[in-house]
Amino acid sequence: MTKILLIGSGAREHAIFKALLRSNESPEIQVFGSTVNPGLSGQAAAYTSGPMTDPEAVVQFAKKSASDLAIVGPEAPLDAGVADALVEAGIPTAGPLKALAQIESSKGFARDLLQEYGIPGSPAYRRFTSLQGVDGFLAELNGHFVVKADGLMGGKGVKVSGEHLSSEKEALSWCREIVDSGSEFVIEEKCVGPEFSLFTFSDGKSVVHSPLVQDHKRAYVGDTGPNTGGMGSYSMPDHRMPFTDESDYRAAAEMNEKTLEALASKTGSPYRGILYGGFMATADGIRLIEYNARFGDPECMNLLTLFEGNFLAAVRGMATGTLDPSSISFRKEASVCKYLVPEGYPDSPKKLFPIDLSAVADCRDLYLGSVDERDGQLLAAGSRTLAFVGTGPTLAEAEAAAEALAVKVPGPLFHRPDIGTSELVQKRIDLIKSLRG
Ligand code: AMP
Ligand code: GLY
Repeated sequence: MTKILLIGSGAREHAIFKALLRSNESPEIQVFGSTVNPGLSGQAAAYTSGPMTDPEAVVQFAKKSASDLAIVGPEAPLDAGVADALVEAGIPTAGPLKALAQIESSKGFARDLLQEYGIPGSPAYRRFTSLQGVDGFLAELNGHFVVKADGLMGGKGVKVSGEHLSSEKEALSWCREIVDSGSEFVIEEKCVGPEFSLFTFSDGKSVVHSPLVQDHKRAYVGDTGPNTGGMGSYSMPDHRMPFTDESDYRAAAEMNEKTLEALASKTGSPYRGILYGGFMATADGIRLIEYNARFGDPECMNLLTLFEGNFLAAVRGMATGTLDPSSISFRKEASVCKYLVPEGYPDSPKKLFPIDLSAVADCRDLYLGSVDERDGQLLAAGSRTLAFVGTGPTLAEAEAAAEALAVKVPGPLFHRPDIGTSELVQKRIDLIKSLRG
């Protein structure tokens, strides 16, 4: 029986955990998380909570648990070299080595790589280590700019003109703040259009692309309010977005493939894991907004709820360079994921209040995120708390299924009832029509 180590303890990892359990090999799953998530700990063969970014601690746990395979959920352990340490200890790992994970951990590295290998699809950009030359480049971009701090910033390092920055003066002071904190930054052209995500399973040789998924970053209905980690996401029965055409899909898939090849050539190591392309459909084709080195949260819950095939085989295939594309397929259904988050999230969330799941106790597609358990009582821990996924032959049915579950949980939590509704999707279609004519 395979003993697989899962690193991470949020809703994304709960989805990975459930998908592993559904693979017909019934693996023994061991978890190294940052918190104790009862969604995972209840069924894990071994569980520890500790510093996921400490490669030695993770390897020690893996050795003690006799793990023979590993999968890394979040980005921070990848950036800390946890995959490198596991591989060195003889444990094949789905999750790229640190050098390859720079595609996410350094926005400047990612842009330079695409440029060096002639991969089209990047907006105009420049890297900076000081304020020198910033005014000139901002002027060139004519008010349409984005300033990104380099490094893993948990989504807080990016400021967009017209949204977070209302003038070049504000941009300059954000740049100064970044420099003062000891970081570098990238300034790039602001692109306009609806965003979508494409995930590519890679073993370094073979690739399999996921259905397209769209996340919703804003906290409140109608895409208003502060940016969050992602309030929910949807996917369509045809595995495309309602606002993309086939050439958008092909361009995104090709971009992920070329980037995987470029990464292998640049670092000398195969990319083993998930490559997450965050794209925008613009007036003249797609643009790459960012790369991540892992599954998206919440997109992972859509994908793994729809997953058919053998997820354990897919993970083993990625980790060992033997990916069999037939181990991966997705139901041709729509999916909608809705996150319940504490009142006040993301700026001043309520914390440590009890959650009552009795009305949804037998829900298969419920994923526990930022939760804690004390004296047998489930508590909300302050971030994205519970994710519900509804699926169905149409988006409307998937949305209704997710919504029906989300409203059943009482307490000081909120969610976005508009995610997956035809009104919101129509706004994206109208936007692309206005851009492309
Ligand atoms: P990132 O962390 O790079 O994904 O940036 C976070 C968010 O900022 C993205 O999801 C976009 O909504 C926005 N963003 C980043 N880069 C750009 C860009 N070049 N043009 C427009 N929006 C962007
Ligand atoms: N879906 C946003 C993220 O995982 O970064």
